[in-house]
Amino acid sequence: MSFNTFGHLFRVTTFGESHGPAIGCVIDGCPPRIPLTESDIQPYLDRRRPGQSRYTSQRQEPDAVKILSGVFVDEASGAQVTTGAPIALLIDNVDQRSKDYSDIKDKYRPGHADYTYDVKYGLRDYRGGGRQSARETAMRVAAGAVARKIVPGLNVRGALVQMGPHRVDRARWDWAEVDKNPFFCPDAKTAAMLGDYLDGLRKRGSSIGAVIEVVAEGVPAGLGAPIYGKLDGDLAAALMSINAVKGVEIGAGFGAAELSGEENGDEMRMGNDGKPLFLSNQAGGILGGISTGQPVVARFAVKPTSSILIPRRTVDRYGQETEIATTGRHDPCVGIRAVPIGEAMVACVTADHYLRQRGQVGETPAWPFTPPAR
Ligand SMILES: Cc1cc2nc3c(=O)[nH]c(=O)nc-3n(C[C@H](O)[C@H](O)[C@H](O)COP(=O)(O)O)c2cc1C
Repeated sequence: MSFNTFGHLFRVTTFGESHGPAIGCVIDGCPPRIPLTESDIQPYLDRRRPGQSRYTSQRQEPDAVKILSGVFVDEASGAQVTTGAPIALLIDNVDQRSKDYSDIKDKYRPGHADYTYDVKYGLRDYRGGGRQSARETAMRVAAGAVARKIVPGLNVRGALVQMGPHRVDRARWDWAEVDKNPFFCPDAKTAAMLGDYLDGLRKRGSSIGAVIEVVAEGVPAGLGAPIYGKLDGDLAAALMSINAVKGVEIGAGFGAAELSGEENGDEMRMGNDGKPLFLSNQAGGILGGISTGQPVVARFAVKPTSSILIPRRTVDRYGQETEIATTGRHDPCVGIRAVPIGEAMVACVTADHYLRQRGQVGETPAWPFTPPAR
């Protein structure tokens, strides 16, 4: 069986193919009385949309979202709010060019999922890859916009921190830069060189990978469901489910292997707000699968786009050896548009765990505890 539903209490089911008439999702479990209109969702979709710069696919999709159900105008406030019923969202596909794919309909693109879909299902939608296409991720971004509204004070932001050999300089990190360049790069100096770098790659008909970092602030302490629903485990699964993602790390991640215990363990002091103050955040805001109240920090590695102009050796679905060179419209670095998608997945996981925490524990216990009388 295939599996198109994500989450436990905040549950998202997506549907639709890259070159079908529309894509959509149904969000079930969203609490009632949350103000929600299309204008809460559209800005996030606009950030993921293709065709916005010469560094992403030139497919022109307005990605205009429609809310089909699950909202109603609240008489008291006059605002459109969620009702608690399933929220169905729909986006029309308007710029499909299925002909682009007819030359490669029987051939498998190295690095793509053409072979695995064919060998599993016995057929595949070669028009843009059907469900294997990242077109589906537009619906994750739409669901993420709703998820952000569920957790009070949640702020989820993402940035591209590496493209090929070019890493950002963290000393120059400026969140305000992220929306000022077409790469979602927080370091203006690195961003300034990425354009020429990508132009060179595109001229060669090639592509490149990237690393994205997502930081969620305002995640309350106590979210996560040990043992098999740990917050870090669910984040890893959610980020890994994004197309082309090949690695996920939380906090120090793989770097923790090089650290000593005293370098890695985040020391604690008491903050002026009566909460613990961590002196560092190697844990990425999660200990024992439960949020600490520090920012949750996740990074994921995105592989280079598989559809490239450079001829590659492959086989076709009839077992013949052949060559393939992909034409059509593709992102030279899919990691760029993965930034808003990563943010959305982190928002969805956080909202799901926020509701699960409310369901099981209710109010998080008041901390610090009163010492027992002796
Ligand atoms: C935003 C985004 C856009 C993508 N666009 C393309 C594309 O134009 N061409 C391509 O070959 N792969 C593209 N991909 C990657 C493929 O969807 C992905 O590699 C493929 O489904 C195989 O899955 P896997 O890489 O996760 O194993 C894109 C991925 C993302 C996140």
